[in-house]
Amino acid sequence: MKLYLFHTPEQVPDAPAPDCAIAVDVLRATTTIATALHNGAEAVQAFSSVDQLMQVSDAWPAEQRIRAGERGGSKLEGCDLGNSPLDCTAEYVGGKRLFITTTNGTRCLERIQSAVTVLTAALVNRRAVVQHLLHTRPETVWIVGSGWEGTYSLEDTVCGGAIAYSIANQLRESSDAHGLGAIAGNDELVAAVSLYEQWRDRLLDLMYLASHGKRLVRLECFDDLKFCAQTDTLDLVPIQKEPGVLVKSYSNA
Ligand code: MLT
Repeated sequence: MKLYLFHTPEQVPDAPAPDCAIAVDVLRATTTIATALHNGAEAVQAFSSVDQLMQVSDAWPAEQRIRAGERGGSKLEGCDLGNSPLDCTAEYVGGKRLFITTTNGTRCLERIQSAVTVLTAALVNRRAVVQHLLHTRPETVWIVGSGWEGTYSLEDTVCGGAIAYSIANQLRESSDAHGLGAIAGNDELVAAVSLYEQWRDRLLDLMYLASHGKRLVRLECFDDLKFCAQTDTLDLVPIQKEPGVLVKSYSNA
């Protein structure tokens, strides 16, 4: 298994799609997706365009759909929700399909949707994603940060580092490989692990340092930052079942 980290969707090469690609948007799209599926949403369907979201979701029974839309951190007019994971309670999303569009996260998913397996990861479901990778052993894995409009985001890279750190450690502990050197596909991956090692006990502090974290602070989303900075709290892996549609899987599936 070789892991490659790309800080933004723009950095993803025009190479043949890998065996597994993972979209990461810790603040907040992939945290919201994991939370909605954990709390019983039937599926999450992601769109980069709001018009397309409206068109597709119009064909869905109104009582079985929720429309979540975010741009610039704020809720989009005409949608039921913005992009706060805290709004995705079991009472609200249970049994429904969440149609979602966000500034960067859903665009990132679209960029990698042709990979054989497409997952989403955030800090909250890091352990489940790691276990899934160790169980399925894809040969090539791309971990792609959503960033912010083409620029690097600390929180996405630290999550990529957290995934790689845990895989390297578990391989080192078992007899079949030898840690980071064996799995690192590019320099960005090694740097991401160092970032995680530096901040692993202060992830919430890192969220406050990050430029999008500061944007969310200006929008008074303090509880979202706290929620998104938690590690290994949700035991599920969002997995693409058809382009743009994610359902719940578990770490050993
Ligand atoms: C994004 O896609 O850029 C985000 O998830 C923004 C946010 O809602 O925090």
